[in-house]
This record gives sequence, structure tokens and C-alpha cells, in this order.
Amino acid sequence: MSKDTLSVTDNRTGRSYELPVSEGTIRAMDLRQIKTSDDDFGLMTYDPAFMNTASCRSAITFIDGERGILRYRGYPIEQLAERASFLEVSYLLIHGELPTREELDRWIEEVRYHTYVHTNITKFLEGFRYDAHPMGMLLGAVGALSTFYPDAKHIHDPANRHLQMVRLLAKLPTIAAFAFRHSRGLPFVFPDNGLDYIGNYVNMTFSIGGRHQPNKVLQRALEILLILHADHEQNCSTSAVRSVGSSHVDPFSAVSAGIAALYGPLHGGANEAVLLMLDEIGEKKNIPAFIETVKQGSDRLMGFGHRVYKSYDPRATLVKKVAYEVFEQTGLNPKLEIALELERIALEDEYFIKRKLYPNVDFYSGLIYQAMGYPTDYFTVLFAIGRTPGWLAQWQEMLLDKDQKISRPRQIYIGEGKREFVPIERR
Ligand code: SDX
Repeated sequence: MSKDTLSVTDNRTGRSYELPVSEGTIRAMDLRQIKTSDDDFGLMTYDPAFMNTASCRSAITFIDGERGILRYRGYPIEQLAERASFLEVSYLLIHGELPTREELDRWIEEVRYHTYVHTNITKFLEGFRYDAHPMGMLLGAVGALSTFYPDAKHIHDPANRHLQMVRLLAKLPTIAAFAFRHSRGLPFVFPDNGLDYIGNYVNMTFSIGGRHQPNKVLQRALEILLILHADHEQNCSTSAVRSVGSSHVDPFSAVSAGIAALYGPLHGGANEAVLLMLDEIGEKKNIPAFIETVKQGSDRLMGFGHRVYKSYDPRATLVKKVAYEVFEQTGLNPKLEIALELERIALEDEYFIKRKLYPNVDFYSGLIYQAMGYPTDYFTVLFAIGRTPGWLAQWQEMLLDKDQKISRPRQIYIGEGKREFVPIERR
């Protein structure tokens, strides 16, 4: 009868060990008993970038990378994108269940109540250079929010945690819109709480004297994109939020760490990098030469590949569908043709097939954002607005997880052995 254990023999000592196998894993700490002598520290695992290490047990998001499956709290992303609102999905991620009508109405009202930011935040944002990258502004402003809400340090108080999560969900779009206005040299437009969450954000971003008359198709398209970005299990930025949050710092500071991680071109910054790449390619006739530089390793096909998805990212399929709906309203983004041809060629090329490289969520989203009127360096800010409920849900789950402690990995020391200090005159 098979047992849920792993039999390990340490050939250095001839000793054997039975390690329990649970949920497809062994506990790394069970390896520490494997020693060559009593004063041996015991075995560790070495797993740079955590390629094969589960850092937590989570009930929030399920991904099957081989089958291209993504579910938030069990609900398929396709159904949520088609039928839910962004605040409904935010509630689901944070609370674990879809809200009733009454719960959703209360949630919407709570968020609406907290959309304003302290006017000093506007002074803080005005201090940035005219050409400051909006992700740098968002990163700084969200971190600064912790100084306006010192009570956010009471992270073990459920009511306080709830208030801070509502504050961040409500204020991040306001700060994001202010960053957009700053980069345009336009006056800040404050929240208009007669509008819904997305409408309010769009108005704060695009209003020029009086309420912005939104295109409802574009507004819903933006909401779908935010839903598609809302969570994605233990990605780089979420791991940053969990790790920084494990020191028991306030949620604003923990989320600012997530914003910093998302900023990188290998992560959320990829949607910006895709447009820069398409600009660099310029025309379809240049695609074969570009693909060659990628295969030689001197370029990356931005918006392609994924640590988990080894098939089509299900979000990319949905984003592509939204793209056509948006372009019907805005006119075709001329770069779409290059993107489609780039995808076609890559999906037929052995280099990409062998490495299971497919379009990810960032490949087409930037084309949509550009068509909506957002500048390229602003795309990752939109990703951050979408990801905020996921970061908060994961932060709270980490805090409530009895298995979790302050995050502090070990290392393999490869530096110098002990040596004596050398006075400067003898160096
Ligand atoms: C996001 O983790 C998440 O869930 C992230 C995210 C989320 O919702 O939070 O899904 C959002 O960040 C999506 C990914 C956006 N980034 C990009 O589009 C940037 C381009 N993609 C890559 O740099 C890369 O694919 C990663 C970073 C996404 C994944 O990198 P891995 O898993 O570490 O893979 P790797 O770098 O080890 O690559 C494996 C091989 C290598 O070739 P060999 O050394 O084996 O010859 O595939 C190659 C890589 O060179 N490769 C690529 C490539 N991605 C991987 N080659 C060309 N173009 C690419 N895009």
C-alpha cells in the first residue's frame, strides 16, 4: 500500500529518512534532520527565484499553467470578466465570497466615501518633476499614505484592517489620476462621488472643465481589464507585498513594495515595454529580423512567456477580445497589425514553441490602453489599480495564516573565509 512519504537515503552517511508528502510538497524544514554529524546544520533547499518552492497555502487564486486556467476564489476568470463589476471582484478576492446585493451596496458606499486624499498629497505629487514616471509617483504617494493614517499600524484589528483596505482601494485610483494630470500639466480633478468607481476614475483622469462624457464601451473595457489584473497568486509583486507585510508593517507600506516590484519590465512594466518594442519594430517587414535578435538572446519578446502559463494565458485571450471591442470605438491601433503578425510568427517558430512561450496578459493590454488615450508610461499604473484588491487579499491572508512568520530566507555563503583587517596604508 503506497504511503504519502518520500524515502530519502543520504549516501554520505548511508542513513535513510521518511519525509511526509502533503499537498504535493515536502516541508523544507523536514530536510534539516538530514545531517552528516551532530554539529551539521542540516540540509536546506537551494531555489533561486523560488522556481519550485511554495511560500504559502492560499485559497485566493487558482492557476493551472498547463491548461491555461485562472479562477478567483473558484470562479473562472471568463465568467467574472463577463458578468461582474470590479468592486464585486475586489469584494470576492478580499472576503472570499461574492457579495449579496446588500453587501455590495454597502461596499460600494464605503469605497465611495474614501475616494478623497489629504490635500497634502497633492503638494507631495506637485513636487515631482514634470516628466516623472507615474509609477514612481504612485510608489511614493502610496508609501506616503502610511504617514497620513498612523492607525493603519493596528494590523491585528479586523475592523482597522478593513478600513485600511477600503481606503487603499478607494484612494489608489485618485492618486493614479492625479499622477496622470501632473504629467499633463493639468489641474487635479477631485473625486465626484456621484459617479461609479470606474466612471469616477475616468472623470478624474480625462475631465477638462466639467464632467467628462465617457464612452461606456471603453469604460466597461477598462473595468474588464482591471478585473483580469486583479490577482494572480504568488507573482513577483504579490510575493513582495507578503514578504514586506510579514514584518507587520502597515498595508500602505506593504502595497508600495508591490508597486515597486510591478514597475519592473519583466513584470507589470511589460505592457509598457511591449509598446516600446512595437515602436522599435516599426513595420511588419522588420519582424523577422527582430525575431532573430530575440532568438540570439539580445532581445526579449516582451508580453510573451510566463513562469506559470506554459500555454496561452487565459487573460490574453480575453484582452484580445476586448481589444477588438475598443478598436470599434476608437479606430484600429495601427500597432495591432504588427502585434498580430509578431504573435503569428512567434507561435510557429521552434524557439518559442520549444520554450512554451505564448502571449501573456501584457501583450495586447497596452494597445488598448493607448487607444483609450493613456500614455505608454502610464500602462503599469492601470495594472496597479487592477492588482490592488489582490495585493490586499493576499496581505490579509498572510497575516491570518498561522503557518506564516517574518519572511527571512537562508543563503549559501560563497564569500571569503575569516581574514584580518588591513590598515589603509598597507592596502
Ligand atoms: C506578468 O508571475 C505572474 O503571474 C506575473 C503576471 C501577473 O499577473 O502578476 O502574470 C504578470 O508579469 C506577466 C509577464 C510579463 N513579462 C513579460 O512579458 C516580459 C517578457 N517575458 C519574460 O521575460 C519571461 O517570460 C518571464 C519573466 C515572464 C518569465 O520568465 P521565467 O519563467 O524566469 O523564464 P526564463 O526567463 O527562465 O526563460 C526560459 C527560457 C529562456 O531561454 P533559455 O535560457 O532556456 O534558452 O525562455 C526564454 C529565456 O531566454 N524566454 C524568452 C522570453 N521569455 C522567456 N525569450 C524571448 N522572449 C521572451 N519573452
